[in-house]
Amino acid sequence: MKTETTIQSLNAALSPARLARKTIGFVPTMGNLHQGHLNLVREAKKLCDVVVVSIFVNPIQFGPNEDFDNYPRTLEADSQLLAEVGCDVLFAPSVQQMYGDLPRRTAVVVGEITEVLCGRSRAGHFDGVATVVTKLFHIVQPDTAFFGQKDWQQLAVIRQMTRDLSFPIDIVGVPIARAEDGLALSSRNGYLTDLQRKVAPKIYQSLTDAEKALRKKTPLAEVLTSIEANLTKAGFEIDYVEALTPDLEAVNAFDQDIVLFVAAKLGNTRLIDNLVVKYS
Ligand code: PAJ
Repeated sequence: MKTETTIQSLNAALSPARLARKTIGFVPTMGNLHQGHLNLVREAKKLCDVVVVSIFVNPIQFGPNEDFDNYPRTLEADSQLLAEVGCDVLFAPSVQQMYGDLPRRTAVVVGEITEVLCGRSRAGHFDGVATVVTKLFHIVQPDTAFFGQKDWQQLAVIRQMTRDLSFPIDIVGVPIARAEDGLALSSRNGYLTDLQRKVAPKIYQSLTDAEKALRKKTPLAEVLTSIEANLTKAGFEIDYVEALTPDLEAVNAFDQDIVLFVAAKLGNTRLIDNLVVKYS
């Protein structure tokens, strides 16, 4: 596996593949890799000739009181894992390489779907994501890019942006990788104390309980209220519990496919999860 830290050297590394018209698969990440990230790489290996993974902790998607400075940076362990799953090129640029010294004046703003769910409590977050992913798409020029369903809203934002801006890139969504007890894998799980780690799987349990209740015809509003009550009782501070369509449109009843979304804090650690509930 090659590791490149500059746009110029990445271009040099990819130029033979581009000349040979090989397909390029791209997995953008912020590192501290776990099986969820590696599943994206495995999927990319299946569908593409050459796989590029980026590791870049993107400052402009973190709010002033968020964890940019403390975000786990584990490049050495990450590159070993990537080599093991067959990543071809790791792109690990510095903040200077990505943003330089000049003030940045251009941003990609995707609109309404960035203002719901996580967008409400994380102002500017999705503009930061859309802007860095646009830059990375231009730098890597992939045929296909892979994103996790763990961050369902992010995936929806990237799909919308790709369509709206005519990026010639296929976007593939990959299912959520979970620990055995159901907790969705996340780099932020490392912040949890042992006790919090034992409580954290209750998010997924409450989602699967909610699905069962919906199938027994419990009204949607009641189901959402009971997720909120259960998690609050278990010690979570709820950010949101919501149901929307897969495209993030409003929904009032379980009369079509829906996605149940939860964001909640355990201590200072903010966890998100979601579950698709098929209507048919
Ligand atoms: P990061 O949180 O590192 O996640 C990188 C990719 O891995 C995202 O597409 C995310 O949805 C996926 N992922 C994380 N945990 C997962 C899990 N348990 N199962 C499946 N997929 C999972 O998301 C970002 O980085 C950044 O916002 C980024 C897109 C790189 C832009 O900076």
